Amino acid sequence: MDIPLILAQAFWFLIPAYVANPTAVLFGGGKPMDSGLRLKDGRRLLGDGKTWRGFAGGILSGMLIGGIQHASAWAAGASQFVFGSPLQAALLISLLTCGALLGDILGSFIKRRAGIERGAKTPGLDQYDFLIGATILLIILETGWFLRTYVLDGAIIGLIFIVLITPPMHRAVNVLGYRLGKKDVPW
Ligand code: CTP
Ligand code: MG
Repeated sequence: MDIPLILAQAFWFLIPAYVANPTAVLFGGGKPMDSGLRLKDGRRLLGDGKTWRGFAGGILSGMLIGGIQHASAWAAGASQFVFGSPLQAALLISLLTCGALLGDILGSFIKRRAGIERGAKTPGLDQYDFLIGATILLIILETGWFLRTYVLDGAIIGLIFIVLITPPMHRAVNVLGYRLGKKDVPW
């Protein structure tokens, strides 16, 4: 079992999801996705923190980075880092980016239903919502790939690694976003 390779692959394949989340912050603003809609509980469906511009910007950025990753691994002959056939790569990268942003939206939906204001700190959900979204889509639509890459034959070590490094990475990126004036709060 090649543990450094497992860890590197686990991280590499999630980069499109890791990119989609903070680039949504960079591109965010404008019309909120829920158009101001309030549910019966009197609270917003999602809140002003989820905008169409952020959603589209995050997806396009994640797809662009994923495409560059795939093409460079292919050009370098690094078969362990290729996302699969061109068609499978397109599907995987779409699932990773859309899943990340849908997870982020689901996180906001849950927060609003729990009565938590937009932007308020919600430990656990804030750090993992995008990862949970991406994972759910992969499990449903690319089950074999997910099991081979993140579960079977020791690959689960990679998944554990991801679960451990995500909160500190999330924190570091948000502190950076805060210092750059892109986020109102450093979480
Ligand atoms: N953002 C956006 N559209 C998205 C995701 C994020 O415009 N789909 C932008 C918003 O400006 C948002 C910021 O990125 O305020 C930070 O994202 P996030 O922390 O996910 O949102 P919060 O403002 O904290 O709102 P919530 O409590 O709903 O998570
Ligand atoms: Mg937040």
